[in-house]
Amino acid sequence: MNNQPIGVFDSGVGGLSVLRELKKLLPNETYIFVADQKNVPYGGKTKDQLIQFSDSIVDFLVTKKKVKAVVIACNTSTVYSIGFLRSKYKIPIIGTVPVIKTIANLTKSGKTAVFSTPATAKSQYLSDLIKKFADGIIVYKVSGTGLEDLVEEGNLKSPKINKILHKSLIPLKEKGVDSIALGCTHYPFLRDQIEAMMGSKVGIVDSGSAVARHTREVLTKENLLGNLSSEDYFYTTGNRVKFKKALKNLLDLDTERIYNLNL
Ligand code: DGL
Repeated sequence: MNNQPIGVFDSGVGGLSVLRELKKLLPNETYIFVADQKNVPYGGKTKDQLIQFSDSIVDFLVTKKKVKAVVIACNTSTVYSIGFLRSKYKIPIIGTVPVIKTIANLTKSGKTAVFSTPATAKSQYLSDLIKKFADGIIVYKVSGTGLEDLVEEGNLKSPKINKILHKSLIPLKEKGVDSIALGCTHYPFLRDQIEAMMGSKVGIVDSGSAVARHTREVLTKENLLGNLSSEDYFYTTGNRVKFKKALKNLLDLDTERIYNLNL
């Protein structure tokens, strides 16, 4: 048993959709969540920037917080920086990527899609995943530019959100796409709107529960599982008050354990 904390990070509040699944499956762990809200959105950043952001965060988690593992609760950061992080840090680093295998298994029409940030959409990492897990299946890549900022603002019912969703997703419906991977951790918070727009015949899958299962596997294998549940800690490189509001709004969580982080 090992009761050191687990580090979890994202550009912002999106990673809370992964944290939610981790806490469901692994309740006897303490989580330290970092939201890099000074730099959100990650979706338009370069590879070098994304590596630098993730390196500073993981360095903080490892050096100052002594975490036993890190979960990158961000697709964009995973596809550009997981290789670097794994080569630099000795602890297990678990990534979040779109669930290509699941949408490939789910489709009957042979037409699927990944809905992600522009950076993830154009990454070689995603192309490789598609080649490996969805050979012979059409996988459209669409981005929802602007959505991340709107989710950060916390008004999930805003008409602006519906407008972007409509523009990105209705063309997929018209093409006959019947399974979609949510390839950005901000998007599970828009699941209701996305499902209403696409209808019940289109499967919408996010990565949260797969990441939680994978984390459990890794911790089990490395003998790192914890057996003590405790309140989690939250750090933001942005505005603490705004983060507190988002936490209440998105996870219905009230906590005073929210701190500012200067990296
Ligand atoms: N939530 C992140 C992801 O999964 C990034 C969103 C952003 O900052 O652009 O890709």
